[in-house]
Amino acid sequence: MKEILIGLMMATTFASAEGYTQGDRILDMQKMAQAMQDIQSGLLYNNVDIVKAGTKVLKETIIKIRPIDSEVNNKDIYEKWLQNDLKMTNRIQKKIRSHASTLEERFTDGDAVQALQEHSKVLGECMKCHVRLRKW
Ligand code: HEC
Repeated sequence: MKEILIGLMMATTFASAEGYTQGDRILDMQKMAQAMQDIQSGLLYNNVDIVKAGTKVLKETIIKIRPIDSEVNNKDIYEKWLQNDLKMTNRIQKKIRSHASTLEERFTDGDAVQALQEHSKVLGECMKCHVRLRKW
């Protein structure tokens, strides 16, 4: 039983360490962009369920983001260093999850203004990666 469990754990670790393609990442990005729009609609229409559904998708998706295989195997040292900045990615992921939780809490407490501020802090973190790490 123990061996089976360990085997299963290794299989999932292995699966998550490889095979993340550019297509997967683009889909994840689009999912998050949609979640951000949904959250905004929820705020504007004063609908806490829509806000919660959006933060849920956002928090589940942001943790999947990582360098794709071709970036991990990039021969160009500088590009590789830039694209595989896992420390920065982890930091951004943590911040986005934390802002998303605060957003949900504030809105549930009836503070839509603070919730909106958290929404824009999340976007700021998205752009940090797009601009700083990716030089877009
Ligand atoms: C750790 C880095 C990183 C973070 C954080 C990040 N992105 Fe991205 N984003 C990328 C990369 C890399 C691409 C380009 C994907 C590709 O074409 O391979 C991208 C592309 C996109 C695209 C374009 C997708 C398309 O259809 O071509 C959207 C939209 C997007 N991101 C939204 C977001 C949103 C919303 C957030 C925050 C909630 C976010 N991103 C956070 C790295 C990041």
